[in-house]
Amino acid sequence: MTPAPIAVALDAPDLETAARWASLVTPHVSTVKVGLELYLRYGPDVVASVRGASRVQVFLDLKLHDIPATVAGAARAVARLKPAFLTVHASGGSTMIRAAVEAAPGTKIAAVTVLTSLRDADLAEIGLAGPASEAVLRLAAIAVEAGAQALVCSPREAAAVRAEVGPEVTLITPGVRPQGADVQDQARVATPEQALAAGADLLVIGRPITGAPDPGAAAAGIAAALRRMGVGAP
Ligand code: C5P
Repeated sequence: MTPAPIAVALDAPDLETAARWASLVTPHVSTVKVGLELYLRYGPDVVASVRGASRVQVFLDLKLHDIPATVAGAARAVARLKPAFLTVHASGGSTMIRAAVEAAPGTKIAAVTVLTSLRDADLAEIGLAGPASEAVLRLAAIAVEAGAQALVCSPREAAAVRAEVGPEVTLITPGVRPQGADVQDQARVATPEQALAAGADLLVIGRPITGAPDPGAAAAGIAAALRRMGVGAP
């Protein structure tokens, strides 16, 4: 069966837990996401651990942001792990984004536009022209022009971003909650169905799956709902 276009956020306290969650969900989803905390604690070994014997795609969410040469070096260093996706901050600028794209040819560089934790007042404070909804579109256009093949954005922004960048770019959306699920600390959520209808290609879902009594069953349930919509991988 085609795995669902879901990236399960493996925000686990330790490697054993991350690997266990990964083994439970990989029959049902296309991708698992390794974040900064897990990567900094365990290093590159974490990628092999969460992959196990599966063919699941790995999304390395390291949100690189530095001078172009340093980001190129970092992207090259992790490219050998063959992640399907690697994140960089679009605000690092087009030369930095292009450097990452060129350094990791087998990996889709996913640009983070504006962190959803930043409000318009935060953007004003750091001198980034807002409002956030406009900054997102501006940074998305810069990133795609610089060669980014994917963008991370809120599901609420996905339709506008899709209209801005066209059909080829992979849109990745966190802040996804199945109907009736606990929203936890996510402020602006959408259901998987809403996110896909808005143009998202890959849904980042963490705690609704990893916090469930049976993460495998939770992933299977969401995957089945998406399949009923006629949606398959990336
Ligand atoms: O558990 P939950 O589904 O909220 O996990 C969402 C994942 O997506 C976490 O790993 C979080 O760091 C990440 N993320 C997010 N919002 C963003 C960017 C990334 O929630 N804007």
